[in-house]
Amino acid sequence: MSGQPLLSVRDLTVNYGHVNAVRGIDLDLAAGEITTLVGANGAGKSTTLMALSGLVKKAGGSVQFDGRDITSLAPHKIVASGLVQVAEGRATLTTLSVRENLELGAYTRSDGAAARARDIEHVYSLFPRLAERAAQMAGSLSGGEQQMLAIGRALMAKPRLLLLDEPSMGLAPIIVQDIFRTLRRINAEGLTIFLVEQNVKQALKLAQRAYVIENGQVVLQGSGAELLGDPRVQAAYLGH
Ligand SMILES: Nc1ncnc2c1ncn2[C@@H]1O[C@H](COP(=O)(O)OP(=O)(O)O)[C@@H](O)[C@H]1O
Ligand SMILES: [Mg+2]
Repeated sequence: MSGQPLLSVRDLTVNYGHVNAVRGIDLDLAAGEITTLVGANGAGKSTTLMALSGLVKKAGGSVQFDGRDITSLAPHKIVASGLVQVAEGRATLTTLSVRENLELGAYTRSDGAAARARDIEHVYSLFPRLAERAAQMAGSLSGGEQQMLAIGRALMAKPRLLLLDEPSMGLAPIIVQDIFRTLRRINAEGLTIFLVEQNVKQALKLAQRAYVIENGQVVLQGSGAELLGDPRVQAAYLGH
């Protein structure tokens, strides 16, 4: 990696009682890149993300974000620092409209209404379906549209690093492609992305850098293309 990483994680450890869910993980995310963390169900992906967002207690290790130690910050301060996780399970507020959900995403911001309205228009340009459904209640959206709304809402917080936990889960392949294409566009506009996925093939195609996690430990790392071509990845995750 050239230059200082935007996010550096060292020896991250998380336990749930006697379960060692994350066991000494190191990660470096380059500014401007998409990095993915792929692995099977139960490997420790969600726990890693929640630890970065401050939502689970770290048993050890450190997290540096843009040169600042955020290891022990409260979750809302982590969001305010620019590290924003897309809500898990697309937890949009189902009885609010699409537009109200997007406005809520900006709650940590202190800039004016004009800037927020401009950013809502940008989210609508990324996800035209959301514009069409702006006044509809979020609960009436399809699964794919709710995932788009969850991403849009996270973007409204003006992240410098966007974290996503399995945005492809439960969605039809064509919708997954649509969402991943939009992630590529958001990244091309300059946003750094950390994507956790069980959809190993699509994630490795999208990401510049990738880590494979098994049993709470990083077992392989490289460029997305390198790992796509790695026989161990192909045997374990791509069904070759
Ligand atoms: N709240 C919890 N309490 C106890 N064990 C948990 C909890 N959440 C996750 N685990 C365990 O931690 C490990 C990692 O889980 P998780 O991070 O959810 O994996 P992934 O997101 O890769 O599927 C698994 O063994 C899982 O059973
Ligand atoms: Mg998970």
